[in-house]
Amino acid sequence: MVAGVVAFVLAVIVFASVHWAAQPPSNVETIDASRLHLSGEFMEANLGTAVQPDGSAIVRVIAQQYSFVPACIVVPTGTPVVIRVTSPDVLHGFLIAGTNVNSMVVPGFVAEVRTRFDKPGEQLMPCHEYCSVGHEGMWARVKVVDRPEFARTYGSQQRSSCVRQ
Ligand code: CUA
Repeated sequence: MVAGVVAFVLAVIVFASVHWAAQPPSNVETIDASRLHLSGEFMEANLGTAVQPDGSAIVRVIAQQYSFVPACIVVPTGTPVVIRVTSPDVLHGFLIAGTNVNSMVVPGFVAEVRTRFDKPGEQLMPCHEYCSVGHEGMWARVKVVDRPEFARTYGSQQRSSCVRQ
């Protein structure tokens, strides 16, 4: 009887850790970290902001030692934004102050955060997980642009970065 109870409790612990704890907090989507640049969603040509047919935006970013690609992200105000980040090397993190954007980036997983920017402006998006000697210098800029201006300046492009003004 006691052995049965102990076995049951152990099974519950293993189940809970596998299903609730042993995964990144924001997402459980996996990806082959060794082939990110070769094909698929996180190829270089697909990185940055992509406006969807419904007007929302998806931002795809690679976090690597010691930079974010792209290094500058443009997003429109008043628009649902999905930020998807993955890493080809080690554990990283990203956050944007004053928003709900804050996640670890684990190699082999895609971290996904849904947010919305109300005010235009520019913010820093630093890496917040120590990822070795270049960690302090790892950050991206996030440029939030008024929705009409975004549509005028970037609207016809599938992807956008801060390079084009
Ligand atoms: Cu990347 Cu710290």
